[in-house]
Amino acid sequence: MMKFKKTLPKITLVCLLSVFATTSLFAQQTVVALRADKPSNQISKHIYGHFAEHLGRSIYDGFYVGEDSKIPHTDGVRNDIVAALKNLNIPNLRWPGGCFADRYHWRDGVGTKINRPSIVNTMWGGVTEDNSFGTHDFLNLCKLLGTEPYLAGNTGSGTVQELADWVQYVNFEGKSPMSDLRVKNGQEKPWNVKFWGVGNEAWGCGGNMTPEYYVGEYRRFATFMEGQNLYKVASGANVDDYHWTETLMKGIPLRMLDGIALHHYSFPTWEKKGPATGYSEQEYFETMKTALRMDELIIKHTAIMDKYDPNKKIDLVVDEWGGWFDVEQGTNPGFLYQQNTMRDAMIAGATLNIFNNHSDRVKIANLAQCVNVLQAVILTDKEKMLLTPTYHVMEMYKVHQDATLIPVEVKTSDYVFGKEKLPAVSVSASKSTAGLTHVSLVNIHSSKSEEIEIDITGQEYKNVTGRILTSKKVDDHNTFDQPERVKPSTFTQAKLKGGKLKVIIPPFSLVVLALK
Ligand code: AHR
Repeated sequence: MMKFKKTLPKITLVCLLSVFATTSLFAQQTVVALRADKPSNQISKHIYGHFAEHLGRSIYDGFYVGEDSKIPHTDGVRNDIVAALKNLNIPNLRWPGGCFADRYHWRDGVGTKINRPSIVNTMWGGVTEDNSFGTHDFLNLCKLLGTEPYLAGNTGSGTVQELADWVQYVNFEGKSPMSDLRVKNGQEKPWNVKFWGVGNEAWGCGGNMTPEYYVGEYRRFATFMEGQNLYKVASGANVDDYHWTETLMKGIPLRMLDGIALHHYSFPTWEKKGPATGYSEQEYFETMKTALRMDELIIKHTAIMDKYDPNKKIDLVVDEWGGWFDVEQGTNPGFLYQQNTMRDAMIAGATLNIFNNHSDRVKIANLAQCVNVLQAVILTDKEKMLLTPTYHVMEMYKVHQDATLIPVEVKTSDYVFGKEKLPAVSVSASKSTAGLTHVSLVNIHSSKSEEIEIDITGQEYKNVTGRILTSKKVDDHNTFDQPERVKPSTFTQAKLKGGKLKVIIPPFSLVVLALK
């Protein structure tokens, strides 16, 4: 059992240096009911998915350094990145975009590398794309990672035939023009890719379509994506475009559909995203407000889906989420390279709690993006690599993958800023197949600790252990000179007594407890 201090923990007694204000001496109170007597659905591991677009230094100079690189690699893919991602048990990886997907022609990226055409990545930075990383390279990377590929098809500038051919190239076992080409290019067996996006952001960079028009396009493209057990995801709503979801649910026969996407990013405002480090409390608060909005978005999109699909056959696929801030000074504005601080850890923890708690409808989600782009879990600089605070959240939360959701009822205190307030604490819980219960707690408050009382119903626990992700300042982050400034440590502020668990969690911190 962990040691629990009746008095305030040392961490709150020492006035921590915050970028905003001095940490308060007094903790706030939150009460949680943990309903172990009401185990719910399985939390799909695919909620913990990632995203790798041909954007900035995500693929080139990120994952892929080329076969001639001095950096240790396997067929051009960095070994250190593969090892770090394997440690996250990443369940799926989405590729090649994003907006790039609707400009990508897969045939450019197969066959002998020197014969592949160069194109211009008009979407991201106007740089030349030599197509040296293509379908085989990506699917081999997924094999190295032990992860499921999620391919985004081109319905914007591509043809129905082109996408149908890609499906056949990748998945067809028998003899056909496309499978013959695959074999000629060195891959005997099909990869049997299950997850397919039918376009991306069709309302914007994917073709500026109306939902009514996209429904027709979806039906046409999906018809010719032939093969067994394909899981097709329709390009979904931008944030709160509920009309989009309604039109898709009404217009696409449910037998042709497996998931509908949703994209939602977090920032202070879209027009003024502000810096990724050294932000103000206003920017922090506004970012957390946008991040927590994910809950409302899921509830409202789900309510529409429920009307047409009460048995929840169609999944909500949040295949882009995360923080989006100004690029680091001196970097290409089209490369979306940003640092990653404890604010990003708060976005990740709170969002994953929301996904877990809505995992009856949300079955897949993809953090944007994996390496060197937006809210990355890994940043690289030549041969150096660092793990961001977001990486550590993903690592701490992996215990929820495929576990059984345990419902929680939370009476949280508030994080008040000016005239506005947000719930300070978010919680999710699950039970693993090995019988361990995990509880994830996030306190987004910028200066106040939380005393959390967890009342347990339906299970008797004898032992609690835990890990915490915390730091002195909310904009603390890892750098190539100090790659371990933010990392998880053992948590000692939890005490189990009778049917109650008492926890004290510092400001802008995240804790994952294991109960036996
Ligand atoms: O993740 C960056 C971009 O954001 C994606 O390419 C696009 O789908 C979204 O607008």
